[in-house]
Amino acid sequence: MWLTGRVAAVFSLAALAPGESQKRRKPLFESDDHYVMLNDDWRNSFYRRALARALPECGKDCFVLDVGAGSGLLSMIAASLGAPQVLAIEANKDLAALAIDTVAQNRPLNFPTSNVTIVAELSSKVHPDVLPGGRKADLLVTETFGTMLMGEGANNFVPDARDRLLKEGGKIVPSGGCQMATLVESHELASVTSATNWGGFDLSRLNILRDTVYWKMTMGHTKVQFTALSERVCVLGFNIYKDYRSTVPDNQTFRIQATRPGTVHAILFDWDVWADDTKADNMSTAPGTREFAGDVAWGYLLQLQEAQNEDWSYEPFPRFLEVKKGDELDLGVEYIAAGISMHAKIRPAPAAGSTHAAAPPTSVGTPKRLLGKKRSDIVESNEYHLPLAGDGERNAFYEGALSFALAQNRTKNANPTVLDCTGGAGIAALLAAKKHGLESMLLSPNQEYVRAFKEVIEANKLEDKVQAYAAPPSLFMESLLPQGERMDVVVLDIPGTPLHGNSPFSVLADVRKQILKPNGAVVPSGACFEVGLVESLELAQMFSVPSGTRWSPSSSGKWTDIELEIWNTEARKRSVFNQLVPYTKWFGAGSNMTWRWLTPPLCAFEVDFQTYGFKDAPPEEVKESVLALNPAKFAGRGHAVVAQWVVWASPDTRRATLSPDSESGYFGRGLTWPHYAQALAVPTPNNEGPLEAPRLEAGEVKHLKVVVRQGKGKQMYHPGPEFELTLLPPEWEKSTEL
Ligand SMILES: *[C@@H]1O[C@H](CO)[C@@H](O)[C@H](O)[C@H]1NC(C)=O
Ligand SMILES: *[C@@H]1O[C@H](CO)[C@@H](O)[C@H](O)[C@H]1NC(C)=O
Ligand SMILES: *[C@@H]1O[C@H](CO)[C@@H](O)[C@H](O)[C@H]1NC(C)=O
Ligand SMILES: *[C@@H]1O[C@H](CO)[C@@H](O)[C@H](O)[C@H]1NC(C)=O
Ligand SMILES: *[C@@H]1O[C@H](CO)[C@@H](O)[C@H](O)[C@H]1NC(C)=O
Repeated sequence: MWLTGRVAAVFSLAALAPGESQKRRKPLFESDDHYVMLNDDWRNSFYRRALARALPECGKDCFVLDVGAGSGLLSMIAASLGAPQVLAIEANKDLAALAIDTVAQNRPLNFPTSNVTIVAELSSKVHPDVLPGGRKADLLVTETFGTMLMGEGANNFVPDARDRLLKEGGKIVPSGGCQMATLVESHELASVTSATNWGGFDLSRLNILRDTVYWKMTMGHTKVQFTALSERVCVLGFNIYKDYRSTVPDNQTFRIQATRPGTVHAILFDWDVWADDTKADNMSTAPGTREFAGDVAWGYLLQLQEAQNEDWSYEPFPRFLEVKKGDELDLGVEYIAAGISMHAKIRPAPAAGSTHAAAPPTSVGTPKRLLGKKRSDIVESNEYHLPLAGDGERNAFYEGALSFALAQNRTKNANPTVLDCTGGAGIAALLAAKKHGLESMLLSPNQEYVRAFKEVIEANKLEDKVQAYAAPPSLFMESLLPQGERMDVVVLDIPGTPLHGNSPFSVLADVRKQILKPNGAVVPSGACFEVGLVESLELAQMFSVPSGTRWSPSSSGKWTDIELEIWNTEARKRSVFNQLVPYTKWFGAGSNMTWRWLTPPLCAFEVDFQTYGFKDAPPEEVKESVLALNPAKFAGRGHAVVAQWVVWASPDTRRATLSPDSESGYFGRGLTWPHYAQALAVPTPNNEGPLEAPRLEAGEVKHLKVVVRQGKGKQMYHPGPEFELTLLPPEWEKSTEL
């Protein structure tokens, strides 16, 4: 045995299972975005400035109430600015417990004479009698805003806390805010949400899947350009001193003007919140105003648009609205659950005298093509199928891979049949029919996607060659196969897509059992799980309060003077250093996250899909990857091990691969194909103490132990192999045991 318990314990990076996790394992920050909030310097500084101005007016025994306190950071900021009494209300018991420990650690250093108390309770359940000294608060501070300003329900419980727990005339920080909406043009956004033509095929019928009402894309910290085509309009103002849930209307219509010519692809929703009624100091989620952590915590939303008629009716087939500078438009907004969410639409302003001129009440309505459709299928189509349909490089890869598989002629059939199980635009099925003159079939569990693909078949006049069925391969009926004979070639998605698609690992066994000939060919032909070391302070901000932050370059686990190391200990406890977590978006071509490979990604484990699934794989294999840092370059901090699946068309032409990084910088690749990241930290005794990313020197060689578990060896039961990665410490490399 070359791995001892001692080493595993000292440098505990035991890891996970990337796999296309059926369990939908989410990055820590998504289920608990408090790390990015703690690292959001702008948010924290905004509150500190606002409190520093408000507290002197509040007097010597100012009692501050923090509603929805989370980590307790705002309470600690208030106390360190001199508030003698702070009550923090946080309904989440785990968060409240962490806040209690964090406050206890900071009291002697930062607010020795203040009394900061945490109550683990819903604010609506806190009775005024239990307030310290039986008196109501002098100042209420809250940060309970979502990506949509009211997305966390601030207009629900904040007015209640204000009315019951704040004294008459008490101060509120912030004083109010506005949910903003702007018409935007973004050709990159359009490219991932609208199918056009590829390889001589008209794919545009897939656009019946485009959801211009319910689905919204969350974006942030992006290189994708948006051009505003209108003013930024306040569509929902919220005065925290006065407003109620009931003050939010059901709907509203705003008359706006196009400020420049262009194509309206989407409405962008972002917000501003102001410190006080002067509105001189504000916090905003507008694109380009935030650093990375703030954009991960909040970001902004995009609702796709389509041309609507004067009477707010939709055309049968969606198209984007073109506007000229000065065009008058009506922006109709429908508020969902008192503004927790909202939908917005535009129509050309009806001419004076038109029967539609006085048309409000606004009817955002739903286009007929989306009525009565299965919502989850439509969401999946917008998040997965449409971005894939626009990925020309991916289509070209499948074109080459299919030609290779056919040329191999494994089944010795003069007229082989092709089964396309990919999520893209059914390119393999279309190519098999048109380019190779063969019969093909597309199979997908997504009914709406199959319905749209049937229209694509018609539009390309391939009805006699291509069939499509809405069924998962495991439930497919053999009797529906062409000529009742099993298929010769099967085309599958990429391994590793965590949420969607027919990955070889999840469907190949069923496909072999009932649809594919025993010697049939599989596309792609093989795949590799690549690993490398990555430096990215921004990535580290998603799961820790790292050292080397901009405002505090030398200290780990702090925001200014406030000690947050407890959060790093918590990250260790929750095993963020033991799991490979899939990330779409932040590593992709559309992201502004700063990251770089310190060691080039190397193949750590290879799979041959022509043989995968025939025999039981060994339950456990141990491999070693040698990761060499460039000798010529300054190295850096290894914040994470990053892994990715790459695939190839044939075992001999491994250079013709496809990876999560698009060569042309196609934005949609990063949305559909994840990287996996596992945090790294310098080992400490008992896994305690300050958290530091290992410093890696130029020319250094690191050894990564890769344990691959399959079949009976699996612990997480994800489809496909599970991986446990352990970066071995330098002592180990010198050890003779190796
Ligand atoms: C601190 O405040 C709590 C109520 O929030 C109160 O029960 C406690 O007695 C106070 N402690 C001191 C030392 O004043
Ligand atoms: C927010 O503050 C910035 C300057 O910090 C200013 O340019 C902007 O106009 C303000 N926004 C609002 C809505 O007051
Ligand atoms: C994103 O990066 C581009 C350059 O790649 C830069 O021009 C832009 O300002 C950045 N945006 C943000 C929000 O950082
Ligand atoms: C819009 O709001 C008005 C006033 O609340 C209401 O009467 C009307 O039914 C609403 N229209 C729609 C389409 O929801
Ligand atoms: C495949 O093999 C069969 C039988 O040997 C042959 O008839 C056919 O032409 C071959 N097809 C191709 C594309 O090589």
